[in-house]
Amino acid sequence: MTWLAHFGLTCAPFSKELPDSDLWLPPSKQAVVEQICEAASAHDQILLTGDDGTGKTTVLRAVRKRLSESFRLTYTANSTLGKRDFYRQLCVALGLSPKATAAAVFYAVSGHVQELRGEHVHPVFLVDEAHLLHQDTLDHLHILLNYEWDSRALLSLVLVGLPELQDRLALRRNRSLYSRIHWRLQVDALAPADTAAYLRHRLAAAGCERELFTGDAAAMLHEATHGAMRDVDRVAHAALRATAAAGHKFVERSAVIAALGSGGGR
Ligand SMILES: Nc1ncnc2c1ncn2[C@@H]1O[C@H](COP(=O)(O)OP(=O)(O)O)[C@@H](O)[C@H]1O
Ligand SMILES: [Mg+2]
Repeated sequence: MTWLAHFGLTCAPFSKELPDSDLWLPPSKQAVVEQICEAASAHDQILLTGDDGTGKTTVLRAVRKRLSESFRLTYTANSTLGKRDFYRQLCVALGLSPKATAAAVFYAVSGHVQELRGEHVHPVFLVDEAHLLHQDTLDHLHILLNYEWDSRALLSLVLVGLPELQDRLALRRNRSLYSRIHWRLQVDALAPADTAAYLRHRLAAAGCERELFTGDAAAMLHEATHGAMRDVDRVAHAALRATAAAGHKFVERSAVIAALGSGGGR
C-alpha cells in the first residue's frame, strides 16, 4: 500500500491484528496484568471493568502470555448465551463432552478440576463481555465457586466487561457472587502523555521510529477519543492516510480534524 511506503512502514500500525510480542504495557496496564496473575495464583475471583476500547481484552492476552503451564486458561466472549449453552461452552473449553443440564456440567467440571488439582493445574475461566451475561447465568455462577462448603474455589473466574457490570453485580440479587470476588480491578482510559506514548509504540512496532504525529496532533487525537485506544486506532489510521494522500511528512492537527470529520471520530 502506497501510504505505508510513504512513511516507511512495514505494516498498518493501528491494526487490531497485533502479535503478543508487540503489546504495549505501560506501568498502569502492567499493574493490572500483575494483579490478575497474583489473584489467579491465589485461586481467587476477579472482576475487571473499563470503558469500551480501553484495552481490557488486550490485558487478558498479556495475562495469557504471563501465566505458566500450571494454569489452564479458557476464554469466552460469547456471553449472551443462556445458562445451559454457557455451561456447555465451559465444558467444551475444558475439553469435556458437553452435558445437557447444569447439574451434569457441575459434576463434570468438578470431577475435571479434581483431576487438574492432582496435576497441580488451576483452571482460569476468562469471561469477556460479561456485562452481557443473562441473569440466570449470573445466578448460577457462584455455585461453581462453592466447593466443599466454600473452602476451596473450583476455578478462578475472571469477569470482564463495561463499568455497568460492576453496578449489576452490586445488586442485592447478585451479592452472593459479588461477595466472592475479592479482586475488583479497573482499566482506565489513557492519560494524554500515554496516548502519545501509545502512538509511538505502535508506529515503532510497524517499523517507523520517527515521531510522525506532531504534539498538537497527538493532543487533538487524545481529546477527541478520550484516550480510548480503539478510537485512537481508527482516527490515527485515517489521519495517516490523509497525510500520505496530501504528500506531507508529518501528521498535523488539521489531518486529525479531517479524519474526525470523515467519520474517524467516536
Ligand atoms: N496493550 C496494548 N497494546 C497495544 N495495543 C493495544 C493495547 N490495548 C489495546 N490496544 C489497542 O486497542 C484496541 C482495543 O483494545 P481492546 O483490548 O479490544 O479494548 P476493550 O476490550 O477494552 O474494548 C485493540 O484492538 C488494540 O489495537
Ligand atoms: Mg474487549
